[in-house]
Amino acid sequence: MIKLLLGFLFLGLINLFGQKFDNLAPTPPMGWNSWNTFECDINEKLIRDIADVMVSSGMKDAGYIYVNIDDCWHGERDSLGFIHPHPEHFPSGMKTLADYVHSKGLKIGIYSDAGWKTCGGRPGSRGYEYQDAMQYAFWGIDYLKYDWCNTESLKAEGAYLTMRDALYKAGRPIVFSLCEWGDSKPWEWGSKIGHLWRTTGDIYPCFDCEYNHGTWSSWGIMRIVDMQDGLRKYAGPDHWNDPDMMEVGNGLTVVENRSHFSMWCMLAAPMIAGNDIRKMSKETLDILINKEAIAVDQDSLGIQGFKYSSKDSVDVWFKLLNKGDWAVCFLNRGIKPQNIEFNWTTENVNDDFANRNAGFDKTEYKIRNIWTKSDAGTTKKPLKTNLTGHDVLFLRLTRK
Ligand code: GLA
Repeated sequence: MIKLLLGFLFLGLINLFGQKFDNLAPTPPMGWNSWNTFECDINEKLIRDIADVMVSSGMKDAGYIYVNIDDCWHGERDSLGFIHPHPEHFPSGMKTLADYVHSKGLKIGIYSDAGWKTCGGRPGSRGYEYQDAMQYAFWGIDYLKYDWCNTESLKAEGAYLTMRDALYKAGRPIVFSLCEWGDSKPWEWGSKIGHLWRTTGDIYPCFDCEYNHGTWSSWGIMRIVDMQDGLRKYAGPDHWNDPDMMEVGNGLTVVENRSHFSMWCMLAAPMIAGNDIRKMSKETLDILINKEAIAVDQDSLGIQGFKYSSKDSVDVWFKLLNKGDWAVCFLNRGIKPQNIEFNWTTENVNDDFANRNAGFDKTEYKIRNIWTKSDAGTTKKPLKTNLTGHDVLFLRLTRK
């Protein structure tokens, strides 16, 4: 009897303190988000069309599952405090839209903010966390991105904890994506709260620039990559560093798109496309659905890659994969072409975090070129090649 009572007490305490939904993101989440291309210009037809194209383009088959609606879907709160979508832009309502997305075998995401208003000035969830979580669960939402504008006086960890508990209480498993821009080091406290956390300010579709908005900046691909320094030890299955949604297909060159995508794979980053997939070029689609690249990102070990060396303008990254495979990415950050020479057998590649050594002196690996989708010899022979500016050589090594 005592045991039973203690058991109930224990369960009650768990319920009281809440938790996140476990195992919703064993590998980094994959999907699409409206913000990078459409910002506030969104409506239900767009979202339905995107869901259609996710299926018809082959993106769904490649693993892209979430159709995420970002800021500005909101209308007003009603007299009871329930939030509703914008009546003209989402006239059929969110439940109908969610049902449609689900009918395609996809999942649907939504956006809110820990403050009283979203970054786009729409109603935020502050003070309405439990009610909003209930509403999302009722609509059939699967993913919540939770932003950080207008949060004066709030502490990030507490604010995100409140929403985590609200989601848990509402009872529908929802991926919780913390969008706090890395301001209060969410990697240090985020893993018990959410499934991914933004590590930086917003991304910008340039290779290596800072775009200054006055009081804040958004960042090119290389700048964001550099900001991931030191964070890999915090990431793993169900708790990922999020270097932001992708800009592939948003004005970068083909080579830059490829490098951006490769680096997101090396970083075990969430793969959330941010382009207009209804109108993308064949090259962009081919990048987004390269299954060998995606396999690097989605590797079941969930170990984020690391920068091994940096010489002239070429960085060399390694990522440990399942079954002792490694992904390698030579990244030419400069605009000039660079000759690359890499004598595998004399390189001592050690992942200090995973405590694994590639052992190139003893172990021979077969080399697979991920972008040309062709075999490229073994690590017995030194690698010699020329890399165009802003391009990558993205390889997978498998023990021979
Ligand atoms: C912030 C986020 C972006 C986007 C916008 C929406 O800037 O970081 O990703 O969600 O808000 O207003």
